[in-house]
Amino acid sequence: MALIQLIYVSSAAREMDEGDLHRMLESAVRHNETNNVTGMLLFASGNFLQVLEGEDAAVDEAMSRIQADPRHHGIILVSREEITGRDFGAWSMGFRGVRASDAEAWPGYAPYFESGFNASLIGAKPGLALDLLKTFAKSNS
Ligand SMILES: Cc1cc2nc3c(=O)[nH]c(=O)nc-3n(C[C@H](O)[C@H](O)[C@H](O)COP(=O)(O)O)c2cc1C
Repeated sequence: MALIQLIYVSSAAREMDEGDLHRMLESAVRHNETNNVTGMLLFASGNFLQVLEGEDAAVDEAMSRIQADPRHHGIILVSREEITGRDFGAWSMGFRGVRASDAEAWPGYAPYFESGFNASLIGAKPGLALDLLKTFAKSNS
């Protein structure tokens, strides 16, 4: 069985408050703990950027659940790659809301999140999505 890492971008179907995000994350964590899936979810201006890691069947199963979830739409796959080790092994699903103030701290990344995550912009630069996810995972405030 291959270990894979999958990254996608999507748009929230409607405005989501902290309670909505918390409930969604709780269910994601519950499924991921059962299936040994790890990752990180970023939320910026109504867009999600998520990375999922695990055995290919487990990640594909999580992705089927994700695709069927009416809380978001416009799911665009950024990458799906075989990996030798996990980058987010400590999180059943980490979460970080990316705010306008983060643009000052990360000016180089600002164009990629200031008006929400843009899949074509992010996808055009290999490694960029993973860099964003790792950067915000580390500054998990
Ligand atoms: C932005 C977003 C992220 C999600 N992340 C995950 C995830 O990491 N793993 C997973 O299994 N499902 C994920 N889901 C899917 C939901 O968890 C799923 O629709 C929900 O678990 C419904 O099943 P439940 O009734 O068992 O809660 C995600 C859904 C959305 C909208």
